[in-house]
Amino acid sequence: MAEICLCILSPRFPKPNEESKAMKDHLTRRGFIRTAAAGSAALTWLSARQSPLVFAAEADKPALLGGTPVHKGGWVRWPQWRESWEPEVLKVLRSGRWFRGSGENVAQFETAYAQLLGAKRCLATASGTTALLVALHVMDVDAGDEVIVSPYTFIATYNAILINKALPVFADTDPASLTMDPASIESRITDRTRAILPVHIYGMPCDMDPINAIAKKHKLAVVEDACQAWLGEYKGRKCGTLGDLGCFSFQESKHLPSGEGGAVTSDSDDLVDRCQSFHNCGRSFGGFKGSGYFTRGGNYRMQHFQAVILLQQMDKLVQETARRRESADYLTAQLKQIPGIQPARLPENSRAVWHLYPFRYDAQQFNGLSRGKFMQALNAEGIPCGGGYSEQYNDGLLDETINSRGFKRLFSAERLKAYRESFQELKGNRQVCATTVAVTQNMLLAERGDIEHIIAAVRKIHAHSAALAKA
Ligand SMILES: Cc1ncc(COP(=O)(O)O)c(C=O)c1O
Repeated sequence: MAEICLCILSPRFPKPNEESKAMKDHLTRRGFIRTAAAGSAALTWLSARQSPLVFAAEADKPALLGGTPVHKGGWVRWPQWRESWEPEVLKVLRSGRWFRGSGENVAQFETAYAQLLGAKRCLATASGTTALLVALHVMDVDAGDEVIVSPYTFIATYNAILINKALPVFADTDPASLTMDPASIESRITDRTRAILPVHIYGMPCDMDPINAIAKKHKLAVVEDACQAWLGEYKGRKCGTLGDLGCFSFQESKHLPSGEGGAVTSDSDDLVDRCQSFHNCGRSFGGFKGSGYFTRGGNYRMQHFQAVILLQQMDKLVQETARRRESADYLTAQLKQIPGIQPARLPENSRAVWHLYPFRYDAQQFNGLSRGKFMQALNAEGIPCGGGYSEQYNDGLLDETINSRGFKRLFSAERLKAYRESFQELKGNRQVCATTVAVTQNMLLAERGDIEHIIAAVRKIHAHSAALAKA
């Protein structure tokens, strides 16, 4: 999804490595204070009445019908790099020590990332997918097992379970929060269920207390897919430290990017020693001796080039997370006032990091303007957006799985038939897939004036929805 959104966005990006004025401003304290101060003044004023910008925008024709777009500039480019990072990257290049076993950068990153999250340990991996593969293996998810998982996620979450020859059994999605509905988990547990895999989608924490309580009651492992949730928080603890193991992605579109990359985090030395072993061809590690020198394992190692790029971005991630939160809070306060727009509800005492900023769209409140046309109109206003994930379990991947030789051997025909039919029960997820609209994280790094454009564009479309619906 993130990749799809960035494809939509790319024509609007400034040239690679060109730092936009907005971004430069955000990186200076003065710029930050100026923007924040202007923002809070605007917020106070706006809560009383509409801003002149919104008023002017509403009066104008929608861009889709020939009017002037609300937002004419670009958006903050992504990913970013700084010249100041180059010496560290060059150092690795010139050292000739590129593989994890012959240098220290990956281990340094593991220490820094664990500290940042307040986790005891971290293992760096080649990607988020490999982090999930390692975590599921270590939690003993084996051929013929079942894993209860959020359906509303990037397809890699499904695939990590399938590659372990286990069945992804979908809990329903809570339409208000867009995350796993804890109330839908227990009825899906069978004698094959081994683990629960909640996904903190778009950086919004799942409601982990009830999920962990169910896991404890049924003796199931909890592997968090925190691949979009670096620094997300639930009741004072970071996403990725709330279950047995947490998995992260550092792919290029992510808030902490290194092209590819991933991590597994945990407070358990034993589990991370096992992860270390499995990700390094099954070599014994720390307290984990396995069955001698080698146990089962693969090569899922991170390279030092990835690690040094990540190490440069720790402070940047913290600062930008605060910035995205500020923009998202402002968007939520304003957008929820527009009939038919419902921002996501977060669990109590939690903080999202907004890999995407989603809201649910009710076409009825927009004179029947379809979601597709609403998004077209928003794009025409200079606000790139997408519809989020679709009902991917209907897209063929799971039919192919059910019909594969391996899965037919591992599961009875009755189980696979009931499994296929169970997708129809995912009513909350269907609703979320049909009604969500989202903008991407890089847009939340923009100046307050640009964030105002997002609100003004939605208001303008609302004001002209009857004409747009007819066009
Ligand atoms: C929710 C989620 N899970 C897993 C992954 C897989 O991570 P990677 O692309 O680094 O393999 C991603 C990456 O996009 C993701 O967003």
